[in-house]
Amino acid sequence: MSVSDQLRPTVLVAGATGFLGAAFVRDFAARDLHVVALARDASRVVRRFEDVPVEARSGDVTRPESLRNALQGVETIVQCVQFSGFPVEDPSRGLTFMDVDGQGTRNLVDVARTAGVQRLVYLSGVGADPSSDRPWYRAKGLAEESIRDSGLGYTIVRPSWVYGPEDRSLNLFIRALRLNPLFFPQIGDGTQRLNPLFVEDLAGVIGDVVESGSADGETFELGGPVTYTLDEIIQIVMDVLGLRRPIVHLPVSPVKAAATLAELLPGRLLSRDAVDFLLQSAVADNSRFRKLFDRGLTPLPCALQAHGSRP
Ligand SMILES: NC(=O)c1ccc[n+]([C@@H]2O[C@H](COP(=O)([O-])OP(=O)(O)OC[C@H]3O[C@@H](n4cnc5c(N)ncnc54)[C@H](OP(=O)(O)O)[C@@H]3O)[C@@H](O)[C@H]2O)c1
Repeated sequence: MSVSDQLRPTVLVAGATGFLGAAFVRDFAARDLHVVALARDASRVVRRFEDVPVEARSGDVTRPESLRNALQGVETIVQCVQFSGFPVEDPSRGLTFMDVDGQGTRNLVDVARTAGVQRLVYLSGVGADPSSDRPWYRAKGLAEESIRDSGLGYTIVRPSWVYGPEDRSLNLFIRALRLNPLFFPQIGDGTQRLNPLFVEDLAGVIGDVVESGSADGETFELGGPVTYTLDEIIQIVMDVLGLRRPIVHLPVSPVKAAATLAELLPGRLLSRDAVDFLLQSAVADNSRFRKLFDRGLTPLPCALQAHGSRP
C-alpha cells in the first residue's frame, strides 16, 4: 500500500466482480477513496478493473479463515456478495441463500469485528424478514440481524430490482426480444409489480453513505421513481428499442414441472423456488430514503434512452 493510499479512507467491496459490486468500485474510485476489491479469486478483480485504481484481494465469505488477511486496514465494508447460479440454489455445493447471504454475512461480520473494521454497508433486499418461509427473505433478514447485533456502525439498504448496462435480467429480456421476432415469452401473467432502480442511482447513494457516514444506523428501502407491472416494463423496453412483439404468457405449472426435472439434473439450471423468486413483486417504499437524501432517481425510459440499446 502506498503512503497516499494510507491517507485515504479504505473501503472494501465484498462481491466486487458482481453487477452491483463493480458499479460501486467505479463510483468509490471516482470519489478518490482507497478501494479494496474482494472476490474469491483476486486475479478476476485485476482483469475486471484494468482501468480503475483498486487493490485486489481474495476472500470467500463461506470460509472465515480466508477473510482475516483480506480485512486488514479496512474501515468500511460494503457487502454485496451473492451465490453463483443465483437464484437457482444448489445445496449440494453450498450455493444457497442461507449459506452465502445468511451465514456468509455473519462470517464477514465476525471477522470484521476482530479486524478493527468500523462500519458495514449491507445490500439487503425488499422483503427481508428473518421469520419468512421464503429462503431469500429469511437469509437477508438473518444477515441484517447479525449486522445490527454486531456493535459495528452500519447502514442497511434494501433495493428493489436493479438494472443497468451490466445486469443479467433486463439484458436477457432485450436479447429475447431481439432474437424472437414473433413474440416475447413471459412466465406467468406478467402482473408482478416492480419499481426498477437504475444501478448508477444506487451506486451514487451507496457512495454518499460510505463517504459521508450519513444514514448510520439506518435501514431503508430504495427503488426507482415509478412502479410498473413486468408486462409494462417489457412494453417500455420495446418502445425504446422500436420493437413490437406480442407478450405471450406461459402458464406457471408446466414451467414448474420442468423445474422439478431440472432439480434432478447436474448443473441445476432451474428450480421451483427460483421460479417463485422470479414471479414475486418487489416494490420499495422510498419514504425513508427521501427523508435521508436529497437525490433524484432516474425513470426507466430515460435510463434506457441514455444508454441506447443497453439499459
Ligand atoms: N441485482 C439486483 O437487482 C439486486 C436487488 C436487490 C438486492 N441485491 C443484492 O445485492 C447483492 C449483489 O447482487 P449482484 O446482482 O451484484 O450479484 P452478482 O452479480 O451475482 O455478484 C455476486 C458477487 O459475489 C461474489 N461471490 C460469490 N460467492 C462468493 C463467496 N462465497 N465469497 C465471496 N464473494 C463471493 C462474486 O464474485 P466471484 O464469483 O468473482 O467470487 C460476485 O462478485 C446481493 O446480495 C443481492 O441479493 C441485488
